[in-house]
Amino acid sequence: MLRDVAKVTPGDWVLVMGASGGLGSAGIQVAKDLGAKVIAAAGADERVSAAVALGADAGVNYRTEDLTDAVRKITGGRGVDVVFENIADPELFARAFAALARNGRLVTAGAHGGGTVPLDVQRLYMNSISVIGSVGRITADDLALCLRAAAEGRHRVIVDRVMPLADAARAHRIVAERSGTGKVVLQP
Ligand SMILES: NC(=O)c1ccc[n+]([C@@H]2O[C@H](COP(=O)([O-])OP(=O)(O)OC[C@H]3O[C@@H](n4cnc5c(N)ncnc54)[C@H](OP(=O)(O)O)[C@@H]3O)[C@@H](O)[C@H]2O)c1
Repeated sequence: MLRDVAKVTPGDWVLVMGASGGLGSAGIQVAKDLGAKVIAAAGADERVSAAVALGADAGVNYRTEDLTDAVRKITGGRGVDVVFENIADPELFARAFAALARNGRLVTAGAHGGGTVPLDVQRLYMNSISVIGSVGRITADDLALCLRAAAEGRHRVIVDRVMPLADAARAHRIVAERSGTGKVVLQP
């Protein structure tokens, strides 16, 4: 999504949505590997902190701050080159879209936050912005790259807690309530 679809190059600003989630936390680390400057955005201060700890240059809580204003401030008024989206919450999507710079790209791979969003078409064409969908297609080379980064300890996964499989119902409740930070792992 970041390297091949959004074509992130060194020095680009990348805004990562749902930054402490599975996709988001990987997105931060891949964007940093590509030489980008990263803004991690999440919906709770502790999740913003956890995401920034993965190497992001700045963090924004999109539930308490105006995401567009915060991103413009961090980037000196310019906006970001790439939004790494995966939520499709109508409000958040619009605020992230409005934070794109000219020739910006919004790449997305998820819709659990609603799925239908407004689109400011005037901003889209006036600023030559692209909105691109991407479904997971990983090559053997990419897989080897990811496993190597994990084995070397360069890429980390945020784990909220590990629970026995027998606690699956409670684990699902924790995920549904979004009270934790990172993945809940069930140990068989
Ligand atoms: N296309 C593909 O190949 C592909 C592959 C894997 C996953 N996906 C999709 O990508 C999305 C993210 O997956 P993931 O594994 O990263 O999930 P995840 O670990 O649960 O993270 C999702 C993040 O979304 C944020 N969020 C914002 N609004 C939300 C809402 N209304 N409900 C739930 N979460 C909300 C949460 O952070 P805050 O609470 O901090 O906002 C959460 O950290 C999913 O839609 C999934 O289906 C697609």
